[in-house]
Amino acid sequence: MNIQEERALRTKGYCHDRFGMFIHWGLYSIIAENEWIRNHKRITIEDYQKYFDTFNPTNYDPKKWAKLAKQAGMKYAVLTTKHHDGFCLFDSQYTDYKATNTPAGRDLVREYVDAFRAEGIKIGLYYSLLDWHHPDYPAYGDMHHPMRDNEDFKEQRGQHFERYVEYMHNQVRELMTNYGKIDIMWFDFHYGEMTGEKWEATKLVNMVRSINPDVIIDNRMGGDITSANPEIYSGDFGSPEQMIPVGGMTDVNGNPIPWETCITLNDHWCYNANDLNYKSSKNVINMLMECVSKGGNLLLNVGPDAKGNIPEMSVKVLEEVGEWMRLNGECVYGCGIADIKKHDFGRITKGEGALYLYVQDCCSEHIAIYDCPYKVIGARLLCDGRELSTNLPWNAHSYEIDGHSVIFVRTPPFAKLNGNGNVIKLIIEE
Ligand code: GLC
Repeated sequence: MNIQEERALRTKGYCHDRFGMFIHWGLYSIIAENEWIRNHKRITIEDYQKYFDTFNPTNYDPKKWAKLAKQAGMKYAVLTTKHHDGFCLFDSQYTDYKATNTPAGRDLVREYVDAFRAEGIKIGLYYSLLDWHHPDYPAYGDMHHPMRDNEDFKEQRGQHFERYVEYMHNQVRELMTNYGKIDIMWFDFHYGEMTGEKWEATKLVNMVRSINPDVIIDNRMGGDITSANPEIYSGDFGSPEQMIPVGGMTDVNGNPIPWETCITLNDHWCYNANDLNYKSSKNVINMLMECVSKGGNLLLNVGPDAKGNIPEMSVKVLEEVGEWMRLNGECVYGCGIADIKKHDFGRITKGEGALYLYVQDCCSEHIAIYDCPYKVIGARLLCDGRELSTNLPWNAHSYEIDGHSVIFVRTPPFAKLNGNGNVIKLIIEE
């Protein structure tokens, strides 16, 4: 098998799942602005120390998070075990800069893993390749380091970067070894010359897979996932953020490749107390359907606060998405590209023996799809299973159907059904 075939096999379940929860949580949640705050305000380790000394998430109950994710219809989750600030939510033997040494006093990753696994949700771990705490990570002159232009750090230019690489590999080994089967490893991110083998990426990937052979890895270590001959570390899926690629993702030969877009619920990854610019459940469902119709996944982010609570607004949106998913999830899981151009009423996805028309708003009495390459043998409304007529309306021939194959579906008054959009299932003969 070549790398692409292995990738396709490995990502089968992941592509089936389609919907996951991203969780950004760490010391920066106390500042409640941005996980890049040290970079933005050039905060020194010393000035940041007070957050370490007082990190005490007394409401941390990952069972609640896991229940919420499950209820929203999410099938996997990815938690920031270490973000760019270098603080570890897990009990690493290679650093003191970890949750066990804060007032939290315990391994928060372990509790996350146990809670999500108990709900049947697959386990993903985010791990930052950047590290603004480790003394061997280049500080002065680096593109992103908080001390990038601080003259006092002239001596810290990553002269002993190999020590950092060893540290990073050791920590990843801990994550791979100490928490049972890990489903997704989410590295973040490469830039400039900090890419690929600079991280000793081939060795890292081989180590990760030697412990968790089925783990799938994102594409942020470097390399080119779209290449005809991708590097071993170029990843199993593309990871656009805050955008949905216009045409999904393909390799250089035009073959679809797995991808997942990660998107925030408001405008920040970590908890931001002033950002109330939340997407609605309808926005989320729209984005999810857009991703699925283009062959991708949606990793939707929440930013729990310093005490460990997922903000109420996020909870509300996720609960509403969950209600919709319970009735309509069939058009998401295991579904993908339908090979029919997008219609005005909304996105179309394809599952086994079925097309799903996601109708965002109420519409006229009929929905029509043009140039459907499949033979349609029946139609149902997904939310209650009722049969819908596919007979041609009596006057259809007088209007714009010449030269097209058109399927008409007679729709019930949608407005009364579900404000977040309804799904028509077309049963097809393949
Ligand atoms: C970026 C940011 C980061 C965030 C991530 C999510 O790489 O550095 O803060 O965690 O994207 O995709």
